[in-house]
Amino acid sequence: MRSKLVAGNWKMHGRRDMAADLLSALAPHLPRGVDVAVCVPFPYLDQAGAALVGSALHLGAQDVSECDDGAFTGEVSAGMLRDMGCRYVIVGHSERRARHGESSQCVADKAATALRNGLTPIVCVGETKDERLAGQTESVVSEQLAPVLALGADRVERLVIAYEPIWAIGTGLSATVDEAIAVHSAIRGALGRVSRAAADRVQILYGGSVKPETAPALFAADDIDGGLVGGAALDPEAFLAICKAAV
Ligand code: G3P
Repeated sequence: MRSKLVAGNWKMHGRRDMAADLLSALAPHLPRGVDVAVCVPFPYLDQAGAALVGSALHLGAQDVSECDDGAFTGEVSAGMLRDMGCRYVIVGHSERRARHGESSQCVADKAATALRNGLTPIVCVGETKDERLAGQTESVVSEQLAPVLALGADRVERLVIAYEPIWAIGTGLSATVDEAIAVHSAIRGALGRVSRAAADRVQILYGGSVKPETAPALFAADDIDGGLVGGAALDPEAFLAICKAAV
């Protein structure tokens, strides 16, 4: 039986004080029975890592270079993220695919580098509204996943995958439970074609306007193993309510 994971993606929000206040509001009140992480902007990872030592609240980052340390101006290596105390790293978020032209092969390379450095990548996939309306959702997700699944069973079994329909991100318009289940089931089937263990072990998170009101029904579904939460992650009361819905 897979455990549930709820990860908060703070995106490009925060300052020192806000990070300190949010972490101190979350860490002492985490529910048992669900893994919880916060994916913090790079500048505040060191502060957050120090604040979370000994805490059940896991630290994550929002991106990572596919390269190890070297002459890559402005990039952040997986070794640096480990040094900051990160356990997770988001790769392939739709906002990075769109703004930085990250290909699915680049996302797979990032995931491989993360795994090689002892991080757990949260690999994001998802379709646009036009792709959904054109009936292309599952083919788009399948294409995004293909290079990642080509990493092979040993590595795929250590991933987390997040299905985030782009049209649900930041809009307040979540996918319905049935819409999410359909895509999660297709992803689970693709994992099963890699290995039985991949299908059994890999957590598939839903992301896209997850709120305290929508989380219980989503998380009750067998193939939805938790959530990747954006806006609501910046409100400690809402984020804790979402975490409790995963128990
Ligand atoms: O990575 C999670 C994020 O894309 C979802 O954002 O604000 O729709 O919960 P939001």
